[in-house]
Amino acid sequence: MMSDNWSTKRLVTVFGGTGFLGRRIVCRLVEKGFNVRAVSRHPERVSGLFPADARTLEAVRADILDPASVALAVAGSQTVVNAVSLYVERGNRTFERVHVKAAADLAAASRNSSVEQFIQISGIGSDAKSESRYIRARGQGEHVVASTMPSIIIRPSVMIGPDDSFLTVLIRLIRLLPVYPLFGNGETRLQPVYVGDVAQAISVLIDRNEPIGSSIFEFGGPQVYTYEELVREIAGQLGVQIRPISIPFEIWSVLATIAEFLPAAPLTRIQIELMRHDNVTARDLPGMKELDIEPHGIREVIRAIEQADRQARHG
Ligand SMILES: NC(=O)c1ccc[n+]([C@@H]2O[C@H](COP(=O)([O-])OP(=O)(O)OC[C@H]3O[C@@H](n4cnc5c(N)ncnc54)[C@H](OP(=O)(O)O)[C@@H]3O)[C@@H](O)[C@H]2O)c1
Repeated sequence: MMSDNWSTKRLVTVFGGTGFLGRRIVCRLVEKGFNVRAVSRHPERVSGLFPADARTLEAVRADILDPASVALAVAGSQTVVNAVSLYVERGNRTFERVHVKAAADLAAASRNSSVEQFIQISGIGSDAKSESRYIRARGQGEHVVASTMPSIIIRPSVMIGPDDSFLTVLIRLIRLLPVYPLFGNGETRLQPVYVGDVAQAISVLIDRNEPIGSSIFEFGGPQVYTYEELVREIAGQLGVQIRPISIPFEIWSVLATIAEFLPAAPLTRIQIELMRHDNVTARDLPGMKELDIEPHGIREVIRAIEQADRQARHG
């Protein structure tokens, strides 16, 4: 177990430290007194994301595809977290390259640098044998990392919170549209989890630093919803009437293919693929409960998103 002395000495390097999940992990760790290195290709963004008095925080530039910059970034760390994402393939940035090869390279660099703890962020449903190139790459990424060094694999369900790309979009569309388009018939089961709870759980795992070898944690929120139930729950919370209609997945795939040509793709083929499968935690894997975390419900997260939206509009 951690002591104050322990955490102030320890250096945790978070790849993807400016991302939706990564920056919350960085925040929790700084609050707990760890030395933290937030790694990304745009370290200049770090100053706008974290309190200016976070003196134990260092922003470092590295590209996970560039082994030399990766080796420099992990040097001296006791823990390394890989929270790098890729949702749309562009040029040499393929799912295989980022989620398998680069994840393996990062784990190897960590092992060579005597890192003690490696945490790989993956996702529920990752499957090395899947027909989906994305889901397969996530599954293979888990295997290569765990076979390179003892690792903790984190599989969150869809993460929600201010500036997410899921619940925030749903809220805006539900307010806007009289008829709400469902993915397929809206029966896919989801367990949305507050991103802050996932970051908290990861910080607890780092704090405990127990020698657990390779293990997998799945993190979900307190309730499972079908997609249609989720849409109705949000509409009820917003006090809005909606009429859901089913849209076949094939049509969504065509729309996503077109949307991916836009610079910040508002819809991706990965989202559509993931929506075809239930995304709920497995009963036989550890999760929030084992870390003594009571996850926030969707209503609290909706309130937080609405509040963040109001603040953004009124400055
Ligand atoms: N969001 C969800 O609902 C969800 C659900 C389940 C699992 N996950 C997984 O959780 C992890 C984090 O997802 P997220 O949504 O937080 O991602 P995100 O917001 O897109 O952030 C990704 C981070 O990775 C960095 N990055 C991207 N390419 C990089 C590269 N080549 N080298 C170094 N850094 C790079 C980005 O910074 P720069 O662009 O500045 O480099 C950014 O800090 C991913 O593995 C994702 O698949 C997410």
